[in-house]
Amino acid sequence: MEKILVKPNGPLKGSVRISGAKNAALPILAASILGTEEIVLEDVPELKDVEIITEVLRGLGLKIKKDKNTLTIDPKGLNSYETDYELMSKMRASFLVMGPLLARLSKAYNSLPGGCNIGSRPIDLHLKGFSALGAKITMTHGEIKAEAEKLIGNRIYLDFPSVGATENIMMAAVLAEGETTLENCAMEPEIVDLANFLNKMGARVMGAGTSTIKIKGVEKLTGCNHQIIPDRIEAGTFMVASAITQGDIEIDNVITSHLKSVIAKLEECGVEIKTNGSKIRVIGRENLKPIAIKTLPHPGFPTDLQAQFMSLLTQVEGQSSIIETVFENRFMHADELIKMGASIKVIDREALITGKSKLYGSKVRATDLRAGAALILAALVSEGETEISDIYHIDRGYEKIEEKFRKLGAKIERIEKEN
Ligand code: EPU
Repeated sequence: MEKILVKPNGPLKGSVRISGAKNAALPILAASILGTEEIVLEDVPELKDVEIITEVLRGLGLKIKKDKNTLTIDPKGLNSYETDYELMSKMRASFLVMGPLLARLSKAYNSLPGGCNIGSRPIDLHLKGFSALGAKITMTHGEIKAEAEKLIGNRIYLDFPSVGATENIMMAAVLAEGETTLENCAMEPEIVDLANFLNKMGARVMGAGTSTIKIKGVEKLTGCNHQIIPDRIEAGTFMVASAITQGDIEIDNVITSHLKSVIAKLEECGVEIKTNGSKIRVIGRENLKPIAIKTLPHPGFPTDLQAQFMSLLTQVEGQSSIIETVFENRFMHADELIKMGASIKVIDREALITGKSKLYGSKVRATDLRAGAALILAALVSEGETEISDIYHIDRGYEKIEEKFRKLGAKIERIEKEN
């Protein structure tokens, strides 16, 4: 089994280029089902999750050529509305093909995505949206079938601004007859990137990035060239890496307006941040101040950076708190950090972190993708060697992570090891 080994090596220094965003690439790849001509996607990160969705699309008949971070997609061969069960069970985001399939073929058969480490993650809001557009949904033995003679635009209110539901319904609605209004929808930058991609192919999506999206149905979408936006969560992870090691890192290829809440929290802590166009320089300081964080849908503080900030807060004198409001079970990294010497108390959805703790290199497990990143960050300032297992979670979402950290001066390597 592969593991990551990390030894402390002082402050990180230098510059790092941020990859394209996983959570923009996945829905955009799913949306390529809607196209009828060649699509070229640039800055697609080389990640396990991207490989899985590419396989899902190939299984549906799309032809995809890969040249490093550029994917060329020919959607003309689309010939199936059924998603492979195995691939579906490997990644929840495969469910994002449901909306586009329903729009293109009036049918989509998919297996029910299971729960996952961070919570039960239902799909009721996605299905509610498809029904409102006129689809008939049936669920039997873990299989979901959505069928519609014709999709017709409607007014849809989401009970919670779910990222996936907003994307899936938006993709279903682009070819529907008439106008769809999606209210209380998610406002994440990845939603805007998806809308921009759809519009380049001929869709008429307005208001993405606000809480109301209007979609005027069109007859068909064509093809386009599109560059995926930078990954704000990867950027945030390296920002914390600089802060926790008292380093000085320049992070390149970022859209700073996507990182407002993250910049605000680091500055509140006492970290120095300088923005300059598409670059952010993060200068770590001694004697950081404790802070309170509450995760929220965008533009609030992202749940996907909560674990990384928890590692940082173990190194801050005094008591900090983190309230997780987006997922019900996203504190599993706390136990791993406690093993390393952190003082963290979790009560329901709140974690109280008391610092500054001396951390010791330990054998720990990446319980999910962001938890894995948090453990690497903690390991950078722990005495001795940290051995992280279950790193396939990390590979789902961070491109060339050891290479990037090594370039900044970290001692990090991947090894093959039994148990
Ligand atoms: N929810 C429902 N019903 C639904 C859909 C969602 O109750 O039909 C609930 C979920 O259970 C959860 C909350 O709504 O408690 C938020 O879920 P959301 O649908 O917004 O999340 P998602 O689309 O499944 C995406 C990202 C996640 C990220 C969340 C929140 C992708 C592929 N995944 O998931 O990314 O945490 O939005 O920002 O875009 C990660 O990258 O590590 C990751 C988990």
